Amino acid sequence: MQKMFQPIGVFDSGYGGLTILKSIVEKLPQYDYIYLGDNARNPYGSRSFDVVYQYTREAVMKLFSMGCNLVILACNTASAKALRTIQQNDLPFFDPSRRVLGVIRPSVEKVPFYTENGHVGILGTAGTVLSESYPLEIAKLYDDHLIVTQEACPMWVPLVENGEVNNPAADYFVQKNLTNLFRKDPDIDTVILGCTHYPLLIPAILKFLPNGVKILDQGPVIADSLKDYLSRHPEIDQKCSKYSTLQFLTTESVNNFEPLAGLFFGKTLKAQKIAL
Ligand code: DGL
Repeated sequence: MQKMFQPIGVFDSGYGGLTILKSIVEKLPQYDYIYLGDNARNPYGSRSFDVVYQYTREAVMKLFSMGCNLVILACNTASAKALRTIQQNDLPFFDPSRRVLGVIRPSVEKVPFYTENGHVGILGTAGTVLSESYPLEIAKLYDDHLIVTQEACPMWVPLVENGEVNNPAADYFVQKNLTNLFRKDPDIDTVILGCTHYPLLIPAILKFLPNGVKILDQGPVIADSLKDYLSRHPEIDQKCSKYSTLQFLTTESVNNFEPLAGLFFGKTLKAQKIAL
């Protein structure tokens, strides 16, 4: 019988989603995965709603055409600006049996396990912050019980994408944005890294984060939530093949992608260039 290849698709505007994929593969190594980074058109953070939706939709359709029945938008900006439209407008028309999931809701569900005083800070791209997706999701789940303060960090993704996380410039911008955030609410006891690129900046963040403040890092959170989702949805789980393979795609040249991608993913990898 022919092997059915039905990988789980993991999409990000660039390298950031590799931090999520790394945690997912550690937790769920039996599945097949295709990672797609739209590095050629990154960053998405400052792009309009329509453009982020169009780019994300193209990526999702590409992953569907490669056999994925389940796609994770491992990108907060795409989750904020494109997920709902894809779920509500595209999937019913294209194929209602496929699923596209984001990273914002599962992160918000974990917040009560972190905060003790209810003061939560969100660090994200300008697009994610302006979309108000985090405050809206938090209000939906917890009414007015949490105090949410946001800070857009437009320089963080370019620093990460250019491999400059150990550069003093990274310290400068991380300190600047954290100072702004804690000036707006000095009582914050939990910060959500609301962009999948930011875990690469954790060493710099730790230099300037006030003592005792907890960091909600999305990798392990999304991996747990995906495991839970697949166990609650056997009909989707059955449509995800399990041969433990990993494939990496990028819209940029592989020579540009591979060295930095290996750093994000924690091991060297081979990629293929594709067009969307
Ligand atoms: N990793 C994306 C996110 O989580 C980065 C966005 C960008 O391309 O600016 O928001």
